Amino acid sequence: MTFDKSPQKIQAMFNLISGKYDLLNNVMSLGTQKYVKYMSIKSLNIKPYAGVIDLCCGTGDLARIIKQIEPDAKVTGIDFSGKMLEIARRKSKDIQYLQGDVTNLPFADNTFDFAVMGFGLRNIQNAEKAVEEVYRILKSGGCFMHLDFGNKNIISKLFDFIIPILARLFTDNYSAYSYLIKSKQIFPEPEDLIKDFESKGFKLRKRKDFLFGVISMQIMIK
Ligand SMILES: C[S@@+](CC[C@H](N)C(=O)[O-])C[C@H]1O[C@@H](n2cnc3c(N)ncnc32)[C@H](O)[C@@H]1O
Repeated sequence: MTFDKSPQKIQAMFNLISGKYDLLNNVMSLGTQKYVKYMSIKSLNIKPYAGVIDLCCGTGDLARIIKQIEPDAKVTGIDFSGKMLEIARRKSKDIQYLQGDVTNLPFADNTFDFAVMGFGLRNIQNAEKAVEEVYRILKSGGCFMHLDFGNKNIISKLFDFIIPILARLFTDNYSAYSYLIKSKQIFPEPEDLIKDFESKGFKLRKRKDFLFGVISMQIMIK
């Protein structure tokens, strides 16, 4: 399937849907997304004063959960959508947010103790380069927590059916949500994703599936 994930298109799309992004996330996940994000961050066991980067941070959910769990962590969020970042900045004053592209991160090698990315990689045209960048900016022994859709099982297919209906009810931007379904369908399943991460030098520490495998979390070590 050919599928346009050019950075310009993705950036414009997230700028456009930013206002309703959080609401739609809660509706489409039937209120479970905050729990899944919380449990994923919790399993990282972040220590005080650790340096943590939230990649493709969007409106900053993961960054805020990190601060909630470990208030002394030094948290930075990065995203290329200015409108998503505006919302993130409004919601928290003690997190540093930067506008930038995760395929070309503005940080030195071996900078961070932890990197997290939720529902981002699926939207990146050059995902391989993004993973290389995550590896580069992590310290040796640092952790990368990746969270996104998981196995394409029967429940996942049910989501594919329900999401467009909810999108029609709650948003006037239906095309962004038909994009979401397509991006989800062509995204690698966790087993293949882990192999892709391993091919860049990471080692698997933990995998956890949520919502009967519809969502999957992997923790990879540099
Ligand atoms: C589905 S949202 C996820 C937001 C947030 N992490 C969450 O869990 O709710 C995907 C985000 O990735 C960002 N994004 C996609 N490609 C990017 C890139 N190459 N560089 C930086 N941000 C990117 C988009 O702007 C968008 O805010």
